[in-house]
Amino acid sequence: MSANGDTEPAAVGVKLGSTRTVVVSEGTGDGAVPEQVVQTLTCLATYEDALTGSERVLYGEDAAREYPDRVQYMLRSGLPEDDDRAELTKRFFSALIEEEGIPEHSGVVYAIPTIDNDAGLDNLAAVIEESGIGSEFVRSYPESLCGAIPAIGDGLEAINDIFVSINLGSTNLEACAYRRGEQLSPFATGAVTGNEVDRHIVNNVEEETQRRVNIDRQTAREYKETHADFVDFDPFTDVIQQPGGGSHEFTIEWAVMDAVDEYLDDVVDEVANRFLAELANDYVRLYRQVLDRPIVLTGGMACIPGLVDEFEERLSEELDREIEATAPEEPSLAAASGAQRIAERLVETN
Ligand SMILES: Nc1ncnc2c1ncn2[C@@H]1O[C@H](COP(=O)(O)OP(=O)(O)OP(=O)(O)O)[C@@H](O)[C@H]1O
Ligand SMILES: [Mg+2]
Repeated sequence: MSANGDTEPAAVGVKLGSTRTVVVSEGTGDGAVPEQVVQTLTCLATYEDALTGSERVLYGEDAAREYPDRVQYMLRSGLPEDDDRAELTKRFFSALIEEEGIPEHSGVVYAIPTIDNDAGLDNLAAVIEESGIGSEFVRSYPESLCGAIPAIGDGLEAINDIFVSINLGSTNLEACAYRRGEQLSPFATGAVTGNEVDRHIVNNVEEETQRRVNIDRQTAREYKETHADFVDFDPFTDVIQQPGGGSHEFTIEWAVMDAVDEYLDDVVDEVANRFLAELANDYVRLYRQVLDRPIVLTGGMACIPGLVDEFEERLSEELDREIEATAPEEPSLAAASGAQRIAERLVETN
């Protein structure tokens, strides 16, 4: 605390994603507010308070578990695309800020997708700005840049570096080359996504169980997050209750890995033949430089064990040259923790 009684603002990093939202908050230097990492599903359900009749908001895992019939996921490509969704996102984010006690007296950096959608980006900005946090400042930086920060050093080395970063999200694949923070040949596709893998797993499970088992996408996502593994996948069993009573136990041997295997082939194809082809076309000399450096993989899908090595191998083969790939320690938290590091620096220099 300074002489005039002002406390230093907390540095906060935020990533609002179509599947998960992450908030990393440094806490205050005097220790009054501790550091915290919040990760939650980006969804919300409302219900009527049984005593007062007023509308209540429930968000995250609780909403998904208790109100599967009417839980709403309001983002696509990490953006609220229209006014209704912007309103829902505001309610979701305010509820989260309040419940987790994220400090209002703060400087906030939030990660934004590299998507050409001005209305969506404005809606996202309004969600953060009206949330109450960020009394000192609110700034945005690209998600794939923020996510690369924890992969490239202990500080903000990535900001002054030249490299390629690829963000593997639930509704989007984004790729971009960075030259000291400048975005070169930004690329995004909604065709190769974590959500698509989940749909694929639903179909595969049906096929693998000879149509005896029908899972929903949420279950498919849980299978993927719990079991997908390029290093040593173990077949697993699950049980469903049957409509007429009784239960049916089944084993999954290939349904999950077949889907993520195809996903990774598609990732390599998009990266090699669309993004990198474009980059080579736009910046011939830089293209060679960035391929001599490790490519950074971020986003939730990069959490799958062995995916980074497998990507490296398949991309090397596709391009017929040695490629290195790397990932931050926690790919699904990386964008928010990178954003938090930027916020920390901005708090210092403000
Ligand atoms: N441990 C894990 N293993 C496998 N997949 C995971 C894991 N954790 C997250 N995922 C998957 O990663 C995807 C979510 O990644 P991320 O949190 O980066 O996306 P998002 O930012 O919410 O979505 P988008 O960027 O499309 O708005 C989902 O498909 C999710 O199932
Ligand atoms: Mg994302």
